[in-house]
Amino acid sequence: MHDPSRPTPWTCVRREANKVVLYEELAREVDALLADEPDAVANAANAAAAIYHALPALNWAGFYFLRGEALIVGPFQGLPACVRIPLGQGVCGTAAAERRSILVPDVSAFPGHIACDVASRSELVVPLLRGDGVIGVLDLDSPELARFDEADLIGCENLARIIAARL
Ligand code: SME
Repeated sequence: MHDPSRPTPWTCVRREANKVVLYEELAREVDALLADEPDAVANAANAAAAIYHALPALNWAGFYFLRGEALIVGPFQGLPACVRIPLGQGVCGTAAAERRSILVPDVSAFPGHIACDVASRSELVVPLLRGDGVIGVLDLDSPELARFDEADLIGCENLARIIAARL
């Protein structure tokens, strides 16, 4: 029998469709916001603000930029964050070192997770790529467990491509 506390398959499909549309609209908004501005700090700041206010259930959204062997915090929205993350450490440092997106449904289960805000329960980190190299990461935190799914990952990878081209 259908459990009314769980979404029907139809609801799941609708939610996915809405999320895809949300990311398409956000990608257009970010592209337009950054299109005419050559300053990297201004563009990262506006991208962080647009993402933070467009996506539900986030407590942190922003950037870390690679400087030598460490990631340094860049423009963000949310509580003050750890300033330096050595390459290869935490979710951000691992994503940058391995040049791949990392979706963490439960941060307490990720070995080496760096807790900047104890409210964070799940996290999505996407590398910012330039050519064959990594210039930084886009980091999203949520106070909800398992907040991010495949649609968020694809949507954020597309945002990261648009943003990296304007930094
Ligand atoms: N949790 C991250 C650190 C950055 S804060 O979430 C803003 C990590 O483990 O790399």
